[in-house]
Amino acid sequence: MQEIKKNIYWCGIRDWGLGVFHGHELSTHRGSSYNSYLIKDKKTVLIDTVWDPYKEKFVEDLEKNVGLKNIDAIVINHVEPDHGGSLGLLMDRIPETPIYCTKNGAEIIKKYFGKDWNFNIVKTGDYLELGEYKLNFVEMQMLHWPDSLLEYVDGARLVISNDAFGQHYCGTSLFNDETDECELYQEAIKYFANILGPFKPLITRKIEQISAMNLDIDMIAPSHGVIWRKNPAQILERYLEWSDLSYNEGYAVIIYDTMYNSTKDMAEAIAGGLEEEGMKFKIFNAATKDRSDLNVEIFKANAVILGSCTVNNSVLRPTASLLDEIKGLKVKNKLAFGFGSYGWSGEAHKIISQKLEESGLTICAEPFGVKYKPTSEEIEKCIEIGKNIAKQLKG
Ligand code: FEO
Repeated sequence: MQEIKKNIYWCGIRDWGLGVFHGHELSTHRGSSYNSYLIKDKKTVLIDTVWDPYKEKFVEDLEKNVGLKNIDAIVINHVEPDHGGSLGLLMDRIPETPIYCTKNGAEIIKKYFGKDWNFNIVKTGDYLELGEYKLNFVEMQMLHWPDSLLEYVDGARLVISNDAFGQHYCGTSLFNDETDECELYQEAIKYFANILGPFKPLITRKIEQISAMNLDIDMIAPSHGVIWRKNPAQILERYLEWSDLSYNEGYAVIIYDTMYNSTKDMAEAIAGGLEEEGMKFKIFNAATKDRSDLNVEIFKANAVILGSCTVNNSVLRPTASLLDEIKGLKVKNKLAFGFGSYGWSGEAHKIISQKLEESGLTICAEPFGVKYKPTSEEIEKCIEIGKNIAKQLKG
């Protein structure tokens, strides 16, 4: 346990070895942490647990450091197993302890654990007096599940935010002011782009709602990664920027999927056209670039230029799943263009263009396909397309 404020302790788990999360969906190059917090006031309250594989250590540590029988209440901000996973073992030991959660939270707990414990349903505006401190509850529906909840700890100027403002990051310190800022922001934006990206309008409204409460905040403690102790408003400001549906960092991303380099040659020619017009870009191979990192590049881009050669009347497998992911993450308000080589039927570039348009991106040029291998004229046309896209980006 580590004290983060007077009588308020971090009692989570650092998972240095975590390389993937959500099954194998999300890469976590810098591990993660599952942050649980304990407030020792007149009432002793545990806020969130940790992921199921760590439940024995978590419960043992609580027994040793606090004494399970001394826990007066448990707040479950979010039942997803990385935070709620140890609840079953904990409740086996202290089954009468009241659980504070949202209505959706109670339903999800019952489904996961098959138990009807002593639930106290809370909603925005409800509070729990602890003595010196008071927990003020704020519902955070869909950030990141229907059950999500946040507390403002009155008397401590502390927000306990669960997934919001978190990062899959395992560092040497619990606090942002003792952490490499570059690494921290790489992980914060990756978390946002991959997990919270589909919920941007909700995030904007929720931050505006929290701002309107005029809370005096000097620390934001999420359930993953480091705690925002120095200038915690910075992550609220960044979330507002990232939630803007038009957010981009002023460069195009070219992503290609290739068998014999024809589509790659097209990608590089398009890049040449962008460069001639002074537009910044990045190029990636869809099959070899880490998908979660690629999602971040798409999130930051002002244009998504996507190519695949045709196989079996469709696109290559990495491109097919990337198109699904772009739709699922609700990537919008970016220019888009589909291209690729083919042997005989030639569907891929058209499928890409159609799917990007269906996802809500703005098609900025007719899809372009070349048979087998681009000729010098076709390479020239790719360069022209790149120049034309750059001109549209510059407005
Ligand atoms: Fe960290 Fe939505 O769980």
